[in-house]
Amino acid sequence: MASDWALVFFCSFTQVAKPPCAVCHTLAHAEAGGAVGPVLDELKPDAARVAKAMRNGIGAMPSYSAVLSAEQIDTVAFYVSTVSGR
Ligand code: HEC
Repeated sequence: MASDWALVFFCSFTQVAKPPCAVCHTLAHAEAGGAVGPVLDELKPDAARVAKAMRNGIGAMPSYSAVLSAEQIDTVAFYVSTVSGR
């Protein structure tokens, strides 16, 4: 990992969130290859879209409101929107 902030983002996506996003989603930057939900590298969601899905849940994806703080949700949302192919 290049730097501390990158490590924080990486861990948020692959470990901190329960269940980890990586179980269900593919995101090359996080070395995630889950195949349950949409491929985030192709969807290229902006941060607001990621945060909304995490707060409310969507389809088979659970809500993270009870397990992550608002700040943690914003961190993951920023990370996904930044690295997903933009
Ligand atoms: C249990 C599997 C699962 C986990 C864990 C999961 N997702 Fe999802 N996710 C899905 C599925 C399935 C969809 C598609 C839902 C639909 O459109 O019906 C989805 C949709 C999304 C979308 C698109 C929302 C939209 O507006 O279309 C984003 C962004 C997303 N997930 C991000 C994440 C992030 C970030 C995490 C970790 C905090 C995560 N997901 C964890 C299964 C999962």
